[in-house]
Amino acid sequence: MTDLPIYPLTGEHKMIRDAARDFAQKEIAPIAAEFDESGEFPHATIKKMGALGFMGIEVPEQYGGAEMDTLAYVLALEEICKVDASHGVIMSVNNSLYSHGILHFGTEEQKKAFLPPIASGTAIGAYSLTEPQSGSDAGTMKSRATRDGDFYVLNGRKSWVTSGPVADYFVVFMMTDPDKKQKGISAFLVDGKTKGLVRGRKEPKLGIRASATSEIIFEDCRIPVENRLGREGEGFKIAMTVLDAGRIGIAAQSLGIAEAAYEAARLYAGQREAFGQPIGAFQGTGFKIADMKTRIEASRLLIYNAAIAKENSKKTGGRYSLEASMAKLFASETAMFVTHQSIQIHGGMGYSRELPVERYFRDAKITEIYEGTSEIQRLVISRAELDIK
Ligand code: CAA
Repeated sequence: MTDLPIYPLTGEHKMIRDAARDFAQKEIAPIAAEFDESGEFPHATIKKMGALGFMGIEVPEQYGGAEMDTLAYVLALEEICKVDASHGVIMSVNNSLYSHGILHFGTEEQKKAFLPPIASGTAIGAYSLTEPQSGSDAGTMKSRATRDGDFYVLNGRKSWVTSGPVADYFVVFMMTDPDKKQKGISAFLVDGKTKGLVRGRKEPKLGIRASATSEIIFEDCRIPVENRLGREGEGFKIAMTVLDAGRIGIAAQSLGIAEAAYEAARLYAGQREAFGQPIGAFQGTGFKIADMKTRIEASRLLIYNAAIAKENSKKTGGRYSLEASMAKLFASETAMFVTHQSIQIHGGMGYSRELPVERYFRDAKITEIYEGTSEIQRLVISRAELDIK
């Protein structure tokens, strides 16, 4: 692990990075393949990660969190994802998609009620934005929240909800005024036990199989008005602000996956012999190693840069969408590139379930899709650069 001279890590950063690395090696590594195979949700290890403070790293201590900075979050997530991206995405959703919006747009009462169980890891959070007909074009959702006195009545169907089958609390986006389109979207905090919240079938997935994903269907689900997050009509802005934070997490997840696949390939290239020498001595393999390493370190720079931009935005209030999207785009495409090359270097062994390399490859693919596809990241980056809508 490199300590980059341009981003020297503090003692606190090194402490959380090492704690996450130790935990991942001791507690997650022995079970990762088994949980990938069974698709079972890793409740026990997630609880332990909560007890260690990994589920609310940036959440202030008064709401049950570890009160550290974004770089600390990125470093810990990277270490967890080096061992298992499924644990990583559960951690990422709790930290960013769920907690970030409540921290920034929630009332004091909402923070006290909805943050501590998630930040301490005793409960699981989820974020429901996508719908069957509304993914990248998130502003076109059909789900409706209708005001009825002191309540909102939620109706509609949300899809691809990470942790949906098991989540205790949800941040949900719905139309309150469809005529206003994006400006008619509002955000809500919903307890998973609320009548009318129905969990759909668990999705059978290519990768991150130990993280559970499902539809969430709302059928006349009544929630108190005080559970609205932010103002009516502010939902789209909240969703996008939260995704900027989330994308840094997915970039860190991508980096962790890529590093694991790279390290396996590097060791194999030094050990495996063909035609009388280690395969790494052939330029065809050596150059692959060079490209993998260079892209990984470039990803790291973009991710740490985005983490620092997010940290600065706490003081300036400015956006860091550009930095977050560049980090996610480059790191997720790097994860795909590196895991692909790692299988190639391993040959038949890379294709076998006996090694984790094929799991890294399957897990990497989703990083180019969720929390905004690579195409959406390119849209955000090009719009920012060209200053056009
Ligand atoms: N922060 C704050 N405000 C933002 C913003 C941001 N990052 N991005 C846009 N906005 C604001 C704009 O300023 C604008 O406000 P005004 O009208 O007041 O100026 C408003 O939102 C609309 O912006 P756009 O015109 O740019 O909106 P658009 O319809 O063109 O969409 C988009 C922009 C970038 C394509 C956006 O729709 C997007 O990010 N789509 C991808 C959605 C996504 O990532 N989905 C993944 C869901 S989560 C998931 O994967 C599941 C999971 O559980 C992990």
